[in-house]
Amino acid sequence: MGNDSVKIGWIGIGRMGFEMAARLAKSGTDVTVWNRTRTKAEPLAQYGAKIADHLTDLASCDIVFCVVSTWDDVREVVAGPAGLLSGGGKVPRVVVECSSISLEGSAELRGLLARRGIELLAAPVSGNAKVIKAGRLSFVCSGPKTAFDAALPYLGKIAPAVTYVGEGELARIVKICHNVFLGVVTQSLAEITVLAQKAGVPRHAFLDFMNRSVMGSTFSRYKTPAFVNLDFRVTFTPKLLRKDMDLGLDAARRYDVPMPLASITRDVVQTLIGRGMDDEDFAKLLVLQAEASGLALEAENVPVDDGLG
Ligand SMILES: NC(=O)c1ccc[n+]([C@@H]2O[C@H](COP(=O)([O-])OP(=O)(O)OC[C@H]3O[C@@H](n4cnc5c(N)ncnc54)[C@H](OP(=O)(O)O)[C@@H]3O)[C@@H](O)[C@H]2O)c1
Repeated sequence: MGNDSVKIGWIGIGRMGFEMAARLAKSGTDVTVWNRTRTKAEPLAQYGAKIADHLTDLASCDIVFCVVSTWDDVREVVAGPAGLLSGGGKVPRVVVECSSISLEGSAELRGLLARRGIELLAAPVSGNAKVIKAGRLSFVCSGPKTAFDAALPYLGKIAPAVTYVGEGELARIVKICHNVFLGVVTQSLAEITVLAQKAGVPRHAFLDFMNRSVMGSTFSRYKTPAFVNLDFRVTFTPKLLRKDMDLGLDAARRYDVPMPLASITRDVVQTLIGRGMDDEDFAKLLVLQAEASGLALEAENVPVDDGLG
């Protein structure tokens, strides 16, 4: 249970931030949101969220969540000239940073927040906007246990699964590993789906079997509608996936871990971007694979369950 007098601030109302902040606002939490493009935040007012005009308006909140894109964007919204800390007055007790960023960026953020007496909880997430809406998001958290305990009631209103993995930036490496797996699994799923189809098996039949086999997963189920009916509305962009594959390969170099599958997948994602398919969902890896296999893809127009209820 959260404490009713705790004020939450929220930076970043993109695809992820919108659904996360909406769950918090709907739970009755006192939440004030800010987004660079204000119009994207405005619909949250219907759930009781307050909309801030300036990042400094969030400085008087107790806990501030942040979900933007890259480490450069996090640094800008927190420590930039018009950032959260630019006002010089009261500051939050805890910042909960949920973007997928590097270990190094996270450590730098921890240092600059510590200088103002603010604890950082690194709290990246697994799941897309639809997963959040379905109440299936997962958080992986690291940082001071005190910050985790303070944030836990609010994390729990956003997601049913919250894992604390320890001090410092450990959550970042867990999330980076998770997204490397996301890339590799999606590319593999694209390869085998195209292989099965070229051999004569409709995609919906192939994926129905896979989803009900021991290899099926929440992920393979919720990507099935995109693969079968070619609905590539963005859940996660190829560029954000490339960023995460690069973070994984950077970490692999740092820790001297060979990652041959991740290296190849990173370049396939790069090809997707280079071919101009970067405004659609990363599930377009299927289309790239089909093109490379001389297979013309058509929507099968078969109703398929995404498993998200
Ligand atoms: N989508 C997914 O499935 C997924 C899953 C897990 C984790 N993630 C991670 O979550 C983060 C957000 O992803 P998303 O899919 O929600 O991205 P998105 O829809 O592109 O949203 C990005 C958000 O960041 C804001 N932003 C970016 N740069 C900024 C800057 N310099 N100053 C101020 N605001 C800035 C954008 O503001 P504007 O609205 O003004 O552009 C927007 O609110 C990323 O780190 C991503 O890797 C995504």
